[in-house]
Amino acid sequence: MCGIVGVVSSNNVNEKLFNGLANLEYRGYDSVGMCFIKNKRFYIKKGVGKLEEVHKKVNFLKLNGNIGLGHCRWSTHGGVTEKNAHPHVDCKNRISVVHNGIIENYSELKEGLIKNGHKFYSQTDTEVIAHLIEDSLKDSRIEDAVRNALKRVEGSYALGILFAGQPDKLIAARNESPLVIGIGNNENFIASDVPSILSYTKKVIYLDDKEIAVLTKEHVGIFGLDGNKKNKKTQTISWSAEAAQKSGYRHFMLKEIYEQPRAIADTLDERLLNGNVVFEKEFSLADDYLTKINRIVIVACGTSWHAGLIGKFMLEELAKIPTDVEYGSEFRYRHPLLDKNTLVIAISQSGETADTIAALKEAKKHGVKTLSICNAMGSSITRMSEGVIYTRAGPEIGVASTKAFTTQLAVLYLFTILLSKIRKTLNEKQIKDMIEGIRRIPLQLQSVLDEDDEILKCAELYHHKLNSIYLGRGVNFPIALEGALKLKEVSYIHAEGYPAAEMKHGPIALIDKSMPVVFIAPHDVYTYKKVLGNIEEVKARGGIIIAVATENDKEIPKKAKHTIFIPKTLYTLSSILSVVPLQLLAYHIADKLGRDIDKPRSLAKTVTVE
Ligand code: F6R
Repeated sequence: MCGIVGVVSSNNVNEKLFNGLANLEYRGYDSVGMCFIKNKRFYIKKGVGKLEEVHKKVNFLKLNGNIGLGHCRWSTHGGVTEKNAHPHVDCKNRISVVHNGIIENYSELKEGLIKNGHKFYSQTDTEVIAHLIEDSLKDSRIEDAVRNALKRVEGSYALGILFAGQPDKLIAARNESPLVIGIGNNENFIASDVPSILSYTKKVIYLDDKEIAVLTKEHVGIFGLDGNKKNKKTQTISWSAEAAQKSGYRHFMLKEIYEQPRAIADTLDERLLNGNVVFEKEFSLADDYLTKINRIVIVACGTSWHAGLIGKFMLEELAKIPTDVEYGSEFRYRHPLLDKNTLVIAISQSGETADTIAALKEAKKHGVKTLSICNAMGSSITRMSEGVIYTRAGPEIGVASTKAFTTQLAVLYLFTILLSKIRKTLNEKQIKDMIEGIRRIPLQLQSVLDEDDEILKCAELYHHKLNSIYLGRGVNFPIALEGALKLKEVSYIHAEGYPAAEMKHGPIALIDKSMPVVFIAPHDVYTYKKVLGNIEEVKARGGIIIAVATENDKEIPKKAKHTIFIPKTLYTLSSILSVVPLQLLAYHIADKLGRDIDKPRSLAKTVTVE
């Protein structure tokens, strides 16, 4: 996945690059490197490990210059070694490149370059780009050489390129990997995401595929691969720089869990007016069209896919629209059947997940309308869809998704209300109850957060367990999946999410007195009584039961070893509340185990490779 950042300025840029990299580290932390130009020469420092570890060895802040690039790596081609750390240079050390993405035809390009006398230093796919540019350079301008080189490249890239002989010019290019240009005051930036440069500028231009940007400190020019100049819109980001800081919390994940009442309140803000749901202009899907759709297909990955599963409950039960939920990575290879009355919804925090983008592209080939539910303004997915509804979680930095998930649920719920109203599947009283229900959620979330001591107690008792099972039925089953995913990714403990009744068809064999079993069992009219039976089944086998239950539930505390209470709410809304104890449980267990919570091993926040 990798993170890249670059600055060209009238001042020394080393702190800006260093801070940018610190904010981008969630994208990859195998190795890190920086490059500056001084006196028309490159000064490069790099090493294996996280930014702080490498910084202790090489002191990045000793480097200085008015132009530079930084990179943090999540390895794909070539092992985790100093040689494979970026930046990579050409034979004559005149061109320096940082890259996020995968060059798919790098083997054949490398073979050809070697035949032409190029010497390779690393095993990465990235290094071919430096040599290709060198090959194309001859008498042409650096930007033309970059264009010509990129015409030979297949695959995905976000690139930052420096040329030692032109210390006033930073070149960037993008194809299927995220890259944003930041417009500063007498300085300009490139970065893999907005939060990494948010302290320096809120004005950004999003590069599109197959575009090249040429940055000096005063000017940004954007061109197609054909060399034609493009006029691009500068957008102003509404996130504050403070929102991307830890603000006194030990980890971003904890801060982001605790931010959820605010994030939901922001997501609702000015969208509930006079008993109606009102989205902003970028929603853009007409009532007439929304009345006609007869099927919805949701595409997403990971936690966002879990949000989609809950969305299915909302859309089918309330808006009465048949809904399928697909993994982005599976959808495009399945020959999906879509017609003009199918709406495809992509859910993504980052808006840059390669598998979700690929699914959206597949959907568009069928000529259907698409809607994205996304947290990152201006990201690829939002630019590809006809309609957009933004979650307003603010920047999510912790690799484990928390507030993005609950705000996705809030948006799906709002969209369901809108559809139910337009399609008249619910009456006014039902719509009013739904609106009142979600309005109460921010306050109710606060009371769930107040249960943190009880959750911490569970973490203290069970953090040494090697396995656990999460069980729920109906709308609580996706929450079981999400709870298990949270535990796996931040604590590295094996966890399985299952529909509670499905347990007896196999997984029940795993249960003995050493197995923690987390039941998501808020009171509802559908499955509650059945779940009580499932709890008994686990209890009979000695399993350690931790239950999430509705306040004042008298039955569950009699059966469970630990009960965490959530306030009473509507069935489809309970998921926003019941996931929070599971996020906290995963967090505290990982903390007790001393895990690197915001940067769990092998994971990256934005998965930009398929
Ligand atoms: C899990 C997690 C991932 C993401 C997935 C999709 O905590 O964060 O499973 O949900 O990679 O990412 P987005 O939502 O950015 O498309």
